[in-house]
Amino acid sequence: MRIVFIGPPGVGKGTQSERLSEYLRILHLSTGEMLRQAYHEQSDLGLLAQEHIAQGRLVPDAVMTDLVAQRLELGDCRRGYILDGFPRTLGQAETLDNLLRLRDTPLTAVLALDANTDELVRRLAGRGRADDKPEIVRNRLEEYSRQTAPLVDYYRGQGLLQMIVGTGTPEEVFARIKDIVDQIAHTDA
Ligand code: AP5
Ligand code: MG
Repeated sequence: MRIVFIGPPGVGKGTQSERLSEYLRILHLSTGEMLRQAYHEQSDLGLLAQEHIAQGRLVPDAVMTDLVAQRLELGDCRRGYILDGFPRTLGQAETLDNLLRLRDTPLTAVLALDANTDELVRRLAGRGRADDKPEIVRNRLEEYSRQTAPLVDYYRGQGLLQMIVGTGTPEEVFARIKDIVDQIAHTDA
């Protein structure tokens, strides 16, 4: 399966991707984690990305699509993967579509997690990542509404969208995801 998770900051993309990747035994690819790792290594990519991350702004499309295109070429993606945090703009989504079309490996489903802003702010305030400061969180939420939220309609138009309520315990949210994924696996078989 090739799955994309979209949703606002703090909604649980990472938490749920982790669980789903264990359940389906496929890779979990978080572009946020890839960028934080690159910064940890002080690579050119990491240093460039950090300028944007620290402001709660998106890293430019060309940088992100190159990064993901290179990653998807590795053999460990052949059995499927979960993309967490990519695509995040229409430009990224279109580039991904072109890439996957060329390889004849279309997406299986797009899982869109949602929760209200108060809940997101509360979760991020309790975590303490470097970009979880209130003024940065505000920018991340704004980038989400302006640049990423339009992907919901984009993928709905492709018939790939599955909306998932992101509130409740992580177990409750995962149960909803598992139901959907099991249903898709059943239909595919
Ligand atoms: P990224 O790392 O993707 O951050 P994000 O999207 O802002 O989201 P988070 O990772 O904070 O939240 P999440 O949805 O994964 O939730 P989580 O499971 O952690 O991106 C960081 C930055 O990198 C971006 O701002 C951008 O600059 C750059 N970037 C990355 N990808 C990019 C791209 N494609 N294009 C351009 N720029 C890009 O949960 C959050 C917290 O809530 C945790 O503490 C968790 O334990 C808790 N929690 C989770 N589920 C629940 C629950 N059900 N109930 C209570 N608490 C919960
Ligand atoms: Mg995350």
